[in-house]
Amino acid sequence: MPGSHNVGHVTSPFIARPELLDADPLTATGRPVRWGVVATGAIAATVTADLALLPDAVLHAVSSRRADRAAEFAERFGFATSYSDTDERLGYQALFADPDVEAVYVATPHAQHAEVVAAALRAGKAVLCEKPLTINARETQQLVDLAREHDVFLMEAVWTRFLPSFQRALEIATSGEIGTVQWVGAEIGFRARQDPASRLWGRADGGGALLDLAVYPLLWAWGTLGLPEAVTALGTLNAEGVDAQNALTLIYASGAQAQITTSLLARSPNTVIVAGSEGWVRAQGPDAVYRPTRLDVEVSKGEVRTEEFELVGSGYVHELREVTRCLQQGLTESPVMPLEHSLATMRLLDGVRAQLGVVYPNDER
Ligand SMILES: NC(=O)c1ccc[n+]([C@@H]2O[C@H](COP(=O)([O-])OP(=O)(O)OC[C@H]3O[C@@H](n4cnc5c(N)ncnc54)[C@H](OP(=O)(O)O)[C@@H]3O)[C@@H](O)[C@H]2O)c1
Repeated sequence: MPGSHNVGHVTSPFIARPELLDADPLTATGRPVRWGVVATGAIAATVTADLALLPDAVLHAVSSRRADRAAEFAERFGFATSYSDTDERLGYQALFADPDVEAVYVATPHAQHAEVVAAALRAGKAVLCEKPLTINARETQQLVDLAREHDVFLMEAVWTRFLPSFQRALEIATSGEIGTVQWVGAEIGFRARQDPASRLWGRADGGGALLDLAVYPLLWAWGTLGLPEAVTALGTLNAEGVDAQNALTLIYASGAQAQITTSLLARSPNTVIVAGSEGWVRAQGPDAVYRPTRLDVEVSKGEVRTEEFELVGSGYVHELREVTRCLQQGLTESPVMPLEHSLATMRLLDGVRAQLGVVYPNDER
């Protein structure tokens, strides 16, 4: 009928089965899983603190490039063992050789993910690896092939996907309540110190805003509109050829669009808006783009409905519950965060980097 809206219910590619996500993440789901942690940096500490909250997680070993850091980290979180070596490879190889380690959490900079994860998979260890899984799609494909060849679990740590608040936002956005989703705007930015030694700026470490941050705003577009037909990208590169900030427009066959920006120059509010033909959903909270604690929904002008969410731990407990549950059930892949989604992400990011002109040493190997 001319002029009518197509307010159909659509299915988000990310909506998990409720029984996977509704349960308390701190309730044990089976036998204990024995963990090893690779690296002792910022996120390793935050995620390990959440891991320690799981009653069916055993903090068995940690490895670092430096013995003192490994020992301190072990002491701080209560690991039974720590490994290190002046040759950084030997530290994690010792951890992977430990038969008491069943699962490893890899929290090195992106450029090391491919090598470290490959070594873990070859040793038969289940792997949860920080995002982005690798620097490019070729490396991700190699890890996926290796995981399947060795029949071991592998998952990229896209933790936001397991948060009840994110899942609820997708449910609202695709339920028809706000009509048909036509536009998504999502951004993330912080001012990264101009330190040439920082992993965020170095080409060798896979620095730049895109690889570090784009996964989060992309989740909102992908989760509500699917993967785009095309992406156009503009970026500002630093002298080393690493992107300091960038702006992406995602274009869909339906005519829908999404705008995504990431920045290492600007401290932004991390805004997310999913706008439909009849209304909108806005993620709220200080870290709304990756850890929303409130959702605002407006369908009638000026009448905003809100839904509040409590954070458990720092929010990582949900992905850690998922890995634990998968291992307890003998799964080699998470049905919520499948490897095909990591591959699709890396293919999209490869395409964006080609437009921006950002090339890393890993691309040339
Ligand atoms: N999920 C999230 O919310 C989140 C948040 C932040 C970062 N991340 C991801 O986590 C990863 C690490 O980020 P981060 O912020 O924790 O970085 P970070 O603070 O620099 O820590 C990285 C750690 O990796 C080890 N490392 C550093 N350089 C290395 C190298 N060349 N080879 C091997 N190991 C090296 C170091 O540990 P040792 O000295 O002990 O060896 C270092 O402390 C990145 O891929 C990032 O995208 C995820």
